[in-house]
Amino acid sequence: MTASAEPLIELRRVSRSYGDGAARVVALDDVSLSLEAGVFAAFMGPSGSGKSTLLNIISGIDCASAGEVRVGGRRIDRMNEDELARWRARHVGLVFQSFNLVPVLSALENVALPLLLFDLSGEERRRRAALALGIVGLGERLEHRPSQLSGGEQQRVAIARALITDPELVVADEPTGNLDAKSAEAVLDLLRELRARLGKTIVMVTHDPRALRWVDRSFHLDKGRLLSGAAAEQAARALRAVADAASQAVGAGAALGRA
Ligand SMILES: Nc1ncnc2c1ncn2[C@@H]1O[C@H](COP(=O)(O)OP(=O)(O)OP(=O)(O)O)[C@@H](O)[C@H]1O
Ligand SMILES: [Mg+2]
Repeated sequence: MTASAEPLIELRRVSRSYGDGAARVVALDDVSLSLEAGVFAAFMGPSGSGKSTLLNIISGIDCASAGEVRVGGRRIDRMNEDELARWRARHVGLVFQSFNLVPVLSALENVALPLLLFDLSGEERRRRAALALGIVGLGERLEHRPSQLSGGEQQRVAIARALITDPELVVADEPTGNLDAKSAEAVLDLLRELRARLGKTIVMVTHDPRALRWVDRSFHLDKGRLLSGAAAEQAARALRAVADAASQAVGAGAALGRA
């Protein structure tokens, strides 16, 4: 099979508004973008700028009010709810800020959950879940419940669950938002590794300017609009300056600690 030049994700003039009349909120305003397969990308921007809305539209959790949404060459904006749910189950892995693990289930059972939609034996589901937990470095913690794992470990379980159906696209909304700096870096390392080792396309929403060091591409939103050209570069530069200042402060703190 020859490599396709078609992007994995393509949005044309996508808008999303909520409510009517005076209460109308335009969450996304005429956004067009394309993203090639096998890339780790970040959506960045202030609170309320439309990052989650954009991610939800790409992953088929939400629907655009206008415009075209193509993922893997398919017009997902034309699918009805059932078609979207079936498409999502096979093609998209979801990772959330708050992990969304089932507390009464073990790590292995949590990871195996999405496979219930597929015609597989219980033994095969467990085998695949153990494999996915091995990929995220938790092969030794299969029987632990979420409460017996650290935040960073819980997020790695959630990432294993996102991988279990072998989707081409993994989307993550603030995956490091509930984690300390060290666990956040481990999660970013892991996401980058999924791209490098498994060829996944990863799209992440983040507030964390340090994440720019991990991603291949960043998209910058402001008030529902995607910045481009000089405005996007300026936004990226400003975030890098914040990240550099933060890492210098950490360095200075460590030096003080040694003094
Ligand atoms: N279901 C909804 N009903 C009404 N307004 C909504 C709804 N979902 C989002 N919005 C509005 O759309 C805008 C964009 O929201 P969105 O959640 O995409 O922002 P965000 O960039 O992800 O912000 P944050 O960084 O705070 O998560 C906001 O003004 C929000 O209030
Ligand atoms: Mg959000």
